[in-house]
Amino acid sequence: MKVLVTGGLGFIGSHTVVELQNQGFEVVIIDDLSNSSEKVLEGIVAITGKKPLFEKIDLKEKAKVEDFFNRHTDVEGVIHFAASKAVGESVEKPLLYYENNISTLVYLLKELSKKDNANFIFSSSCTVYGQADEMPITENAPVKAAESPYGNTKQIGEEIISETCKVLPSLNAIALRYFNPMGAHPSAEIGELPIGVPQNLVPFITQTGIGMREQLSVFGDDYPTSDGTCIRDYIHVVDLAKAHVIALQRLIGGKNGSNYEVFNLGTGTGSSVLEVIKSFEKVSGKKLNYKVVDRRSGDIISAYANTEKANKVLGWKAASTLDEAMKSAWDWEVKIRS
Ligand code: WQD
Repeated sequence: MKVLVTGGLGFIGSHTVVELQNQGFEVVIIDDLSNSSEKVLEGIVAITGKKPLFEKIDLKEKAKVEDFFNRHTDVEGVIHFAASKAVGESVEKPLLYYENNISTLVYLLKELSKKDNANFIFSSSCTVYGQADEMPITENAPVKAAESPYGNTKQIGEEIISETCKVLPSLNAIALRYFNPMGAHPSAEIGELPIGVPQNLVPFITQTGIGMREQLSVFGDDYPTSDGTCIRDYIHVVDLAKAHVIALQRLIGGKNGSNYEVFNLGTGTGSSVLEVIKSFEKVSGKKLNYKVVDRRSGDIISAYANTEKANKVLGWKAASTLDEAMKSAWDWEVKIRS
């Protein structure tokens, strides 16, 4: 069964391609290589022994999207990762984010609406909740006004899909709201490849640990939390990837309760920035050089998932601990810098 993975050479996309291949799916990747490299294909092959089909296509080019679906009429499912995802950049370049994250989604859905039956998995984010009022966060928590154009594109994306599903019973969709993905495949053949200075905590920690960065700045320790630093739900990227395959199989098997469903993907455990640093020091045996600086604007205090729905309805539960995920992130960093 052929599955299209857009953004399949990216961080979460490549790990999902591996898990799809492990389950016997034939995978075709579309990626525009704007934030990834074709070399990632080698890593996927090194793990699974199977080379996915790959086409370099910019999904903003509507005619190219149409042409792709005319040539691949046997695509039974789409997992859509391709999007711009840097929160800070989205504030500076909102139109780039609305064009890249929204128009591409519309073009994909227009092609899927031509099919008798379409299965669509959407890469969403806990960012849609903003600062939720209650922890852990359930899927029923209200979606709050987005704090960035990036977050807004995820909210708008979910609305576009849910409204389309209402009038298109042939379209079956699941939105997966990720908490904080981290780590790398245990083989260290694929992992996170941030371009430039990492915005996210974990790659900045491992790059500091390996000596690429002088010092980690901890953005504030005066938050109303146990140790004053922000709390997040850090989930191993392989656990996240496996959830995508399970969600797609749910749709293919017609097990979905309605043709638009939403699931949180997290571990259910919150970890503070200082606890993440301690985890790095424990698994690497290295002391991390960091200093506390001012808060980063736009940061929320705390976000961690209520995972009951994904556990009970999807039958999925994150397996890795923070230390296991951190060990995989560190092993990957050591491997790519060696
Ligand atoms: C985590 C914590 C920072 C860097 C982002 C996206 C979100 C989602 C997950 C895609 C915060 C602190 C960070 C640093 C630090 N991605 N930090 N020093 O902001 O929770 O969420 O990734 O869907 O949309 O916004 O992740 O890793 O940037 O920050 O102290 O150098 O680490 O203040 O408390 P975030 P993050």
